[in-house]
Amino acid sequence: MNSSFNSAFDSISPSARSLLLTKAVTTIPFAREAVEMIWSENHPRFTQEELNSLQFILRCIHFETRYWSIDEALSKIGIKNILEFSSGFSFRGLSLCKNPEIFYVDTDLPQLIEDKRIIVLELAKKYCNYPIDNLIMHGLNVLDEKVFTEIIDLFPPGPIAVVNEGLLVYLDQKQKRKLCTIIHKILSNRGGNWITADIYTKKNRQSELALDIFDEKGREFKAKHHVEENKFETFKSAKAFFENCKFDIFKKIEVPSAQVSSRRFLAKIPRSKLEELKGRQKIRETWILAAKTTK
Ligand SMILES: C[S@@+](CC[C@H](N)C(=O)[O-])C[C@H]1O[C@@H](n2cnc3c(N)ncnc32)[C@H](O)[C@@H]1O
Repeated sequence: MNSSFNSAFDSISPSARSLLLTKAVTTIPFAREAVEMIWSENHPRFTQEELNSLQFILRCIHFETRYWSIDEALSKIGIKNILEFSSGFSFRGLSLCKNPEIFYVDTDLPQLIEDKRIIVLELAKKYCNYPIDNLIMHGLNVLDEKVFTEIIDLFPPGPIAVVNEGLLVYLDQKQKRKLCTIIHKILSNRGGNWITADIYTKKNRQSELALDIFDEKGREFKAKHHVEENKFETFKSAKAFFENCKFDIFKKIEVPSAQVSSRRFLAKIPRSKLEELKGRQKIRETWILAAKTTK
């Protein structure tokens, strides 16, 4: 492997690394391949104890479900022009661009996307037997309307699906509102939908008492980034927030549990423990949003 490849993966932050390693035990496209390619033989592995822990299993299920929810939503709306923002080290674009009818623009902050580009090209060379010229990688800070609009202009005519997972909890109210204004303008002009897997609600007492899916490091990271404060109070207030930003909920997405490969690990968990988990309230949903028309 060349040195630019090595420096690309040196820059992977501990949180992105942890997310990628977690996804590597699932069937999410290219997650395992990316881990093996980046860290080769010496790739960090979870211990058997970690793999058997309920906390780890629930974390895998959480992130895997969130990932598939976007694919599920995309297949519901059937839009072929797709812009993903804050995609991190997720390779949905590389997977979906196998369909030549799809035009996919994969974005994240400029530095990350430059590093990711190197990884994506290596993955494509090694694992893809299809052309990937319908996959564009572009730097985008989502609060930068000018760049956002320039990227939209890259798409062929037709409606656009704007998709994201894992960013809204890092944005405060004002930033979320600004993002809504930008996306509303885009969808009003072009048609299409916003699919967001980031409808997270604040922990209630019940879920506080239940197992936290994050370990110590994960909790520290979330506290540093005010993740809990940035979540919506309830699903009802999330709906009110988006309505106020001129979006309607077009559809809420459920992922068939059979699709979530990491559920296989639950077989190792005693039945009594699983019973305790039943009735836990949902803490996250994926919504397909539609821009309200103002006529
Ligand atoms: C928790 S990661 C989620 C990554 C990926 N979507 C996933 O689920 O694996 C959050 C991502 O948001 C990106 N990000 C943070 N602030 C951003 C901004 N203002 N504009 C665009 N991306 C941003 C980070 O670079 C990081 O890749």
